[in-house]
Amino acid sequence: MSQNATPVLTIDGPSGVGKGIIARIVAQKQNWNLLDSGAIYRAFALVVDTRKVEIYDEEALKEVAQTLDLEFKTKAGDELVSVYLDGKDVSKILRTEKTGEMASKIASIGVVRSALLKRQKDFAKMPGLVADGRDMGTTVFPDAPFKVYLTASADERANRRLKQLQTQGSKGIILQILAKVKARDERDSSRKHSPLKPAKDALIIDTTELSIDEVVTQVIALIEA
Ligand code: DC
Repeated sequence: MSQNATPVLTIDGPSGVGKGIIARIVAQKQNWNLLDSGAIYRAFALVVDTRKVEIYDEEALKEVAQTLDLEFKTKAGDELVSVYLDGKDVSKILRTEKTGEMASKIASIGVVRSALLKRQKDFAKMPGLVADGRDMGTTVFPDAPFKVYLTASADERANRRLKQLQTQGSKGIILQILAKVKARDERDSSRKHSPLKPAKDALIIDTTELSIDEVVTQVIALIEA
């Protein structure tokens, strides 16, 4: 197990539940490293799309995984980590709904998941790691000492997404957002390889009625207990 003695906190859950912001705050407070595994799948999807790689071409998919030139930079004051692909800041395009959809589709392919596994495990470095995604606690870091699974109703997650779009100056239609949230939940949870589900030993936190601070407090309490 590559994570050896490094303490790892896994944060899994469906899209729009707030994993990214919670992971970022907890990592900052603990001074731990951060893995946004969704960003890896999103960047992978972006490259596959740009290079017009056929999704049934397993060798080509493996090649993309091996040559994926990704760098994460944490800038003070920014809510989320900046992501560089081939030296270019792709954070904005990476976080669009379209890229999320593409990532969700490509992430269901077994060969893609196994080709990206080591890259994710390598993030486990001292003094610790906060890893956010869908299968952090079940597949990537099954021996992690701290596991959290965040949930929230689909309505609440769609509302949060709408507010996020509005603060970015974009518009959205709540019913369309809700339909997308539900479709992504269904795809991520029903896939054969590493489906979205809580690890048996995860602390499940329903965030529907909780503020970000309240969730952070519960997560930090778990680490400190
Ligand atoms: O967390 P996110 O929205 O950035 O993730 C985008 C998609 O990537 C998500 O819908 C499914 C996939 N993903 C995954 O399959 N496993 C992960 N650990 C993280 C993301």
